[in-house]
Amino acid sequence: MISLRHVSYSFGTQWALKNISLEVRKGDFLFLVGPSGAGKTTLLRLLHGAIPLKRGQGSVAGFDLHALKARRIHLLRREVSVVFQDFKILPERTVFANVALALEVRNMPRTHTERRVRAVLRGLDLENKMHVPCAQLSGGEQQRVAIARAVVVGPQLLLADEPTGNLDRELAMRLMSIFLQFHAHGTTIVLATHNQEILACVPDAKILHLEDGAVNWTNWDMDAPT
Ligand SMILES: Nc1ncnc2c1ncn2[C@@H]1O[C@H](COP(=O)(O)OP(=O)(O)OP(=O)(O)O)[C@@H](O)[C@H]1O
Ligand SMILES: [Mg+2]
Repeated sequence: MISLRHVSYSFGTQWALKNISLEVRKGDFLFLVGPSGAGKTTLLRLLHGAIPLKRGQGSVAGFDLHALKARRIHLLRREVSVVFQDFKILPERTVFANVALALEVRNMPRTHTERRVRAVLRGLDLENKMHVPCAQLSGGEQQRVAIARAVVVGPQLLLADEPTGNLDRELAMRLMSIFLQFHAHGTTIVLATHNQEILACVPDAKILHLEDGAVNWTNWDMDAPT
């Protein structure tokens, strides 16, 4: 699902990713961990084409990141959903509208859209906020809207950047059980987190430790850089 070989990325003269090599197979659950500034968000951004691959080779969901032209990025994004660290939801639009948008751009019939959006919102305990503009939601509720929007399309690959960051323990655990349900149905998941308790929710997950932009190999069942 993801293959990176010797990928590095710099902002100006500062290297945010250094020589990352990584294989994620279909159906894997991978945690990205590491201190603030380690490069977790930058790596996730590379994986959905938000920043270009400048050095190294990489493919995601069958798309070669090196050859990925701007006009084909929307094809990659059909297969890869993202929950952003800063949510990126539309504040003036309702919860329903934000989540439905992901299906509308895929031309899903209205009745089908409505059914799916309701089901996902119910699972995330947001059904009673469906018609509320997102600007009126708490941080944790906005985070759940961002998650609903990502999962509603049934992506092959789900990238999540600190998705439990603003949630209390109970909600964080509930959220993890939602991620695990999608995982059980075959969705490949890459999740960046600081939270040790979250790691314990998926005992057979792989863990990639980033430090200062480089991989610190702690889990040897992954392919180390060659
Ligand atoms: N748009 C940018 N312009 C310049 N430097 C950036 C930019 N985005 C990130 N960086 C730098 O790249 C490095 C990695 O940042 P990144 O956001 O990937 O870290 P992170 O592991 O996600 O941290 P956090 O846990 O705080 O979210 C940091 O040193 C950061 O300052
Ligand atoms: Mg980050």
